[in-house]
Amino acid sequence: MVLLRAKRKECDWQRGFSRSAGLCLAFFSLWTGGLGLAGCDESQKTGTSPTPSSSASTGGPASPSGARGGEVQQHSEVLTIKHVTGGDATRGMALALEYQCNRCHDDSGHTPMARDMHCVHCHQDILADKFPASREALTRWKKTVEPFQVVPSLQAAAERLRGDWLFDFLQKPHDLRPKLQPTMPRLKIGPAEAKHLVQYLTHGETATVPEALLRADQKQGRQLLETRGCGSCHSFSGVAPLATRPKLEAPGSTINRAIMLAPDLAFARQRFRPDKLVAWLVDPSRVKPTTLMPATGLSPAEAASVAAYLLFTPRTEPKLGPAPPRLPILERPVSYAEVDAKVFHLTCRHCHSNADIQLGEGGPGNTGGFGFPAKGLNLSSHAAINSGYKGEDGERHSVFAPLSDGTPRLVAAVLARQAEERGEVNPEVRGMPLGLPSLSSEQVQVLESWIAQGRPR
Ligand code: HEC
Ligand code: HEC
Ligand code: HEC
Ligand code: HEC
Repeated sequence: MVLLRAKRKECDWQRGFSRSAGLCLAFFSLWTGGLGLAGCDESQKTGTSPTPSSSASTGGPASPSGARGGEVQQHSEVLTIKHVTGGDATRGMALALEYQCNRCHDDSGHTPMARDMHCVHCHQDILADKFPASREALTRWKKTVEPFQVVPSLQAAAERLRGDWLFDFLQKPHDLRPKLQPTMPRLKIGPAEAKHLVQYLTHGETATVPEALLRADQKQGRQLLETRGCGSCHSFSGVAPLATRPKLEAPGSTINRAIMLAPDLAFARQRFRPDKLVAWLVDPSRVKPTTLMPATGLSPAEAASVAAYLLFTPRTEPKLGPAPPRLPILERPVSYAEVDAKVFHLTCRHCHSNADIQLGEGGPGNTGGFGFPAKGLNLSSHAAINSGYKGEDGERHSVFAPLSDGTPRLVAAVLARQAEERGEVNPEVRGMPLGLPSLSSEQVQVLESWIAQGRPR
């Protein structure tokens, strides 16, 4: 009831949108506020905590049973596709709503959330001058939102993505698109929830590896990647670099969106259905009508060669650079104003805002969202930060309290995000900012120094 009223108030707010100096504040407090439509039903959320599953998630391999002789021997890897057992598509559909997949993704099977809650549509409207704000504000915001304007739609996921890959990815997401800033956030998805979502997204289908692909001409496939200019949108890490490299062009352009949405082709062998890959390469829009990948002009035989190269050519996992260094505590005084400007206000307030006067809502990291219960963590003022967060015991705890290794929780969370980007998950704390690029060493240093100096105002 209260929430319904809150939604109506968003509309009131739009009418009274202020163009004064306080605009940005009013603005932030609006859009960071918001438990989604899905979040309206708190009672449904209780079932979403990850339940450890002892049963093996996957059944036997579904790779080709055909003989592997002659040229097939050169394949460095033979794909093993596992069948995801268990899970219920109807439950998956309900979970998609609880996790608010439709707050970011189109075609999730649920109507997208309203713009003032939507992490992508609002940015798109700002870029298209469709957001009610002053020209000056729009011009300023456009620069900031440009890297956050697209998320892949989930249309035809069953025709493209492998269930066994989805099962892993939903629990432990990793970066897929070199030119796209946001990544899939690590939600509270355990094996049980992942299985439901997999059945929902794949319609229970399991991919196979067509035998013809094992015999296709990989060398020709590589040549076609070069001559058809695939590298103008895609990178392919771990193989000899393609002659062309993706480079972003005019801000807001369609080509920019295509480049942002083009996955690193290295992941195709883990995630794309081999039995659907040739059809995709011949004409992607027949598989996924809204895709920004253009038709390639490849014949089916050429597409098979390209597919074989993508799936089987030997590749080396590129080495990660050194972990971002943890810089020493600063000697000079660090004020709250500085940490706010460099960290809290810049990235955290998007999701941890002050419980707004109009909405009584504070964003997914405060009042809950993306399937998380309300954490009650407000990072928008000195006093609010010091009031801590609500733990699972229902009590408030300090966000500065040390974890088992002595690191204050707030610092641990931003370090955990740096680690997540390197494929490591900290079971004690979730990486922050959630699903966004990690803070730089310098930002962490300012935050740590401020805490070490006794958190002055
Ligand atoms: C906060 C926004 C956000 C939410 C909420 C979200 N995602 Fe994502 N998701 C992303 C982004 C961004 C990517 C692209 C990641 C990349 O390319 O590295 C992504 C990628 C994916 C992909 C891979 C799609 C592709 O074509 O590469 C799948 C599948 C997916 N998400 C499923 C889900 C499901 C299911 C939910 C709800 C349980 C969900 N996402 C919730 C932001 C979100
Ligand atoms: C009501 C519109 C609106 C909604 C909804 C919205 N944003 Fe934004 N977003 C903005 C505006 C405006 C800016 C630019 C702010 C500025 O430059 O001061 C922005 C900027 C950003 C930035 C860049 C900030 C930075 O650190 O440089 C990120 C990241 C971002 N939004 C993420 C999100 C996420 C995640 C969600 C969903 C929880 C979301 N946004 C929902 C309007 C919105
Ligand atoms: C104009 C940019 C552009 C060009 C050129 C382009 N692609 Fe794509 N490609 C995309 C985009 C965008 C996607 C993501 C499609 C989606 O999910 O809607 C994609 C997806 C793919 C996928 C699926 C990858 C995955 O992991 O989901 C493959 C494979 C692929 N492209 C191969 C190719 C090949 C081979 C060529 C050259 C013959 C090519 N692409 C040319 C933009 C491009
Ligand atoms: C896209 C939204 C989003 C952004 C941006 C974001 N957070 Fe969060 N944050 C959340 C959500 C949702 C939770 C609740 C997670 C949970 O309950 O596991 C949370 C929880 C936290 C926690 C408690 C973590 C734990 O595991 O106990 C800390 C600390 C935190 N955030 C700090 C930050 C800081 C610092 C920033 C900015 C650098 C930030 N967050 C940016 C959404 C966000």
